[in-house]
Amino acid sequence: MYLTKDEERMLNGEMGYAAKKSMEILVALGEIYGAERLIKVGSVQVAGVSYHNLGDAGLEFLNELAEDGRVRVLTTLNPAGMDLEDWKRLGISDEFAEKQNMVIDAFRRMGIIVSCTCTPYFIGNLPRYREHIAWSESSAVTFANSVIGAMTNREGGPSALAAAFVGKTPCYGLHLEENRRPDVHVHVAARLNTTPDWGALGYCIGKKAPNSIPYITGVKDADVDDLKSFCASIVTYGAKPMFYIENLTPDAYRYQPPNESLTIEDADLKKAYEEINDGVGDIDFVCIGCPHCSIKEVARVAELLKGKHVAPTTEFWVATSRTVKQIADKRGYTTIIESAGGKFACDTCMAVAPLKGRFKTVATTSAKGCFYSRQNLMATRMGSLEECVQAAVTGKWS
Ligand code: F3S
Repeated sequence: MYLTKDEERMLNGEMGYAAKKSMEILVALGEIYGAERLIKVGSVQVAGVSYHNLGDAGLEFLNELAEDGRVRVLTTLNPAGMDLEDWKRLGISDEFAEKQNMVIDAFRRMGIIVSCTCTPYFIGNLPRYREHIAWSESSAVTFANSVIGAMTNREGGPSALAAAFVGKTPCYGLHLEENRRPDVHVHVAARLNTTPDWGALGYCIGKKAPNSIPYITGVKDADVDDLKSFCASIVTYGAKPMFYIENLTPDAYRYQPPNESLTIEDADLKKAYEEINDGVGDIDFVCIGCPHCSIKEVARVAELLKGKHVAPTTEFWVATSRTVKQIADKRGYTTIIESAGGKFACDTCMAVAPLKGRFKTVATTSAKGCFYSRQNLMATRMGSLEECVQAAVTGKWS
């Protein structure tokens, strides 16, 4: 791989430990994937923030990098294992909080914005069309490639950090036009009425066309919450972090639907719900906000919860970024949700918080949330926002 003089100096250790380590990672990746050079990135989004996933070895690695590593481009973080301000209220232990704060402190010393959200595009890390970036959260990568039209591979935590320290990433994969071509035509004949229907659609496409880039037709309308849900689901269940929707996503006009095709019917969506759901009645945990809630979703939760109260047997989380919560504070949504017994879970999420063993059954709007909740040993129920709020209030799925 061709390296500039500056890049060679970094690789040789002339610009510090973190730069050297980063160049080693980027060069190794570039050589594996046949990149000819590094390209500049406009921003980085780093996953692998929860102490729950990092453990002490990860914390030690971050502390070593933080000695002299300083990011060169706008860099934001994925959710951590807890709400950084209100962790006690979410039932997080002191021991975990202490370690998680050490992780956050290391990132802060690197110059990273401690945003802790998987929807960085809602809070100021919004790439430009066709801009090269290095993001690692899979739903955000899919959103950036498909909905915004930026260009990123799905980075791992270390390779995203390396890109942040160097300001560059190896030019391969989805940074190259030839790898962004759609390879399967998906016609959607099913009716998409709610945001979780989009999650179910992502499930169907991920399962039926794994490792593909779909070109989707038959969809007439979608809002940003539908699309973020779809992005999270399609990539979780098997597709590449990239899709096109005819007349909806910015790059769809560049291509024709490929010859290989499949159709998604109502029956496919119904089957997806059956496979995602575990079919249980009592709900002790409800979580909205996978990916993190938009302000519109928070507003809808407040509207639905007004004058009601969360069941004593149930914990209700609204997972979102701190920035969106601050907007909710100003608009009065926070007061409504909290006085009804709901809890904001800022900076964290249902997948990366240490929840294993705490709850038996989760209700959520998110197909991706169901995938990770099963890993946390919970039974799952996916449904609309209205159904989830109802479950929070009654403690049951009706
Ligand atoms: Fe975001 Fe966590 Fe879901 S990172 S997409 S809320 S699993």
